[in-house]
Amino acid sequence: MWEADRLWEMWGKLADAVRTGRPQMAVNQQQKAEEFFPTLVRSLHIQNRDKAQTLARRLTAGRKGLRGIDVACGSGVWGIAVCEADPEARFVAQGFPAVLDLTRQYVRQQGVGDRYEFLPGNLREVDFGRDRFDLALLGNIVHSEGEASSRDLFRRLHAALRPGGRIVIVDMLPNDARTGPEFPLFFALNMLLATEEGGTYTLAEYTEWLCQAGFHTVETTVEMMDVGGHSPAVIATKA
Ligand SMILES: C[S@@+](CC[C@H](N)C(=O)[O-])C[C@H]1O[C@@H](n2cnc3c(N)ncnc32)[C@H](O)[C@@H]1O
Repeated sequence: MWEADRLWEMWGKLADAVRTGRPQMAVNQQQKAEEFFPTLVRSLHIQNRDKAQTLARRLTAGRKGLRGIDVACGSGVWGIAVCEADPEARFVAQGFPAVLDLTRQYVRQQGVGDRYEFLPGNLREVDFGRDRFDLALLGNIVHSEGEASSRDLFRRLHAALRPGGRIVIVDMLPNDARTGPEFPLFFALNMLLATEEGGTYTLAEYTEWLCQAGFHTVETTVEMMDVGGHSPAVIATKA
């Protein structure tokens, strides 16, 4: 109900946003995010739990002891599923401090809390380190970051991955001509209303940005995986 009220109020200002190009609320600023996201990420957890399990089964197939980072993790839904599918996996949960308090509750409740570390802070500023991870998960975050920040994030995560490590982006994808599907196109308008620079991006755009961030080699391609629902996973591997 709270979410619906917020959306109603925000979409009522669509004409202003189109005229000015300015958001009517900026959920990627820390104070707003810490107020807004703890409620939203609870419902995302319920919506995405089965999709996260599907994705985790595929990511962990034939592998054990994966080291992962879940960036802007919310409830931690994507990383938790990997820890359940790989009993030796260990994860770093990254997010704003007040949201990480909620992540701590989720990982404890799901029985994987002892395999988690926490990296509080703004994803634009935190140090992810180098050659540490096999998986870098970006669930439903690129759409609120926008192009420049996402490209910088991809570069920093490329450095933080070990050779053979994978970056996994779960997000809504319009087709390359941006003629559909409807939901990712409407969501881009939602991002105009709610963020400074967000939007939804095509597979062609992701492929270009990931390749320029260092993921391109002759042996690897950017892959798209259907996990059910409206957001596929885009996966690229570090050579
Ligand atoms: C739409 S939710 C997605 C949460 C989770 N990844 C999922 O898929 O359920 C976006 C998350 O990004 C976080 N976030 C937004 N901007 C951020 C930033 N600059 N630094 C860290 N976290 C951020 C929010 O706090 C929220 O947890």
